[in-house]
Amino acid sequence: MIIIETMLLINEERIGIVKDRVKIVSSVRESDKGKEEMNMGNWSITLTTAKKAKPAADQLGFGKYFTDHMLLMDYTADQGWHDPRIVPYGPISLDPSAMVFHYGQEVFEGMKAYRTPQGELVLFRPDMNLRRLNHSCERLGIPQVDPEEVLEGICRLLALEEEWMPEGEGNSLYIRPFIIATEAGLGVRAAEEYRLIVILSPVGAYYREGIHPVRIYVEDRYVRAVRGGTGEAKTSGNYAAGIKAQEDVKSLGFSQVLWLDGIEKKYIEEVGSMNVFFKIGGEVVTPELNGSILAGVTRDSVIHLLREWGVPVKERRISIEELFEAHKEGKLEEAFGTGTAAVISPIGSMTWEGHDMEIAGGQTGALSAKLYETLTGIQRGEREDSFGWRYSVR
Ligand code: COI
Repeated sequence: MIIIETMLLINEERIGIVKDRVKIVSSVRESDKGKEEMNMGNWSITLTTAKKAKPAADQLGFGKYFTDHMLLMDYTADQGWHDPRIVPYGPISLDPSAMVFHYGQEVFEGMKAYRTPQGELVLFRPDMNLRRLNHSCERLGIPQVDPEEVLEGICRLLALEEEWMPEGEGNSLYIRPFIIATEAGLGVRAAEEYRLIVILSPVGAYYREGIHPVRIYVEDRYVRAVRGGTGEAKTSGNYAAGIKAQEDVKSLGFSQVLWLDGIEKKYIEEVGSMNVFFKIGGEVVTPELNGSILAGVTRDSVIHLLREWGVPVKERRISIEELFEAHKEGKLEEAFGTGTAAVISPIGSMTWEGHDMEIAGGQTGALSAKLYETLTGIQRGEREDSFGWRYSVR
């Protein structure tokens, strides 16, 4: 009991956001020997007693290391979403017939937490991620979550794992919420049981040497998604559909593929797993959200910033021929991908049907650089947040 009280004090200090809501401290269960458990409101938190060593800040990479705890919540048809809990990070046990393995009912999100120069823990537009999570759930026939409850859980987990926030320029704590169909059975239908899991990974800047332009291959055989399909949902199948194309072009020295639409293979959709923008003759264009394109949070933020800066920006259909013509006429000034992981990823060249198009002299364009500096500055609390995008974890 003394140990538990001591642990509670540690947590009262760490889990500042829930300090006043600690209700019960339960005793350690026989099955949980070596762990401490407590209930906070309807949340229970079981602490690990085997903390992992933290990786060096310059060795992080992306998604290689995971923190000591994770968040779980279950869904059953009769109870709805229930039993929100934070437990030690570790393997989960699922029936081999769990429906996610067979029919792919899965959705996920990606967000980052940052520490500001004032020491505050902040998120970037988490409301958008949670709205999109529910949108993805809707498309995949998965019951939607209460966004406020999930955000509260993410904040609790972050507060508990704060010491995992990596030091170092460009580093952050990546947050991966996902939902899987856990019901056992091979019938093809919506599952009646699901689990929501949130894991945290200390990550480095996507490009350690800072942003640098990448070589892109315009994909002519495979498509990522079609309108009416799942392209605008964040679901694993969309990423699985892109892996072979990506691997094929990697071996030819390209970083990623530029995806064309699935019907005419004519209009630009995304680049790799990012949204894509082009600066043509002083105007910025990005493919309009047409049902097969993911509504990126970074995409939306870039559009807002450009409008604030008075840079003309349009969401519309863009054909690969138009880009090729613009390039021939010397009007294709910049191209870049946008996403949570890389933020802004400049495109240095695109290869389409044997033609190489060099963009911005193969360098990072001025607008791409300004967007990167501004967005990362806002995210890290180093710049004024005139849109109110930062969200304080406590
Ligand atoms: C992102 O750019 O954030 C992505 O969606 C890629 C992620 C799946 C690693």
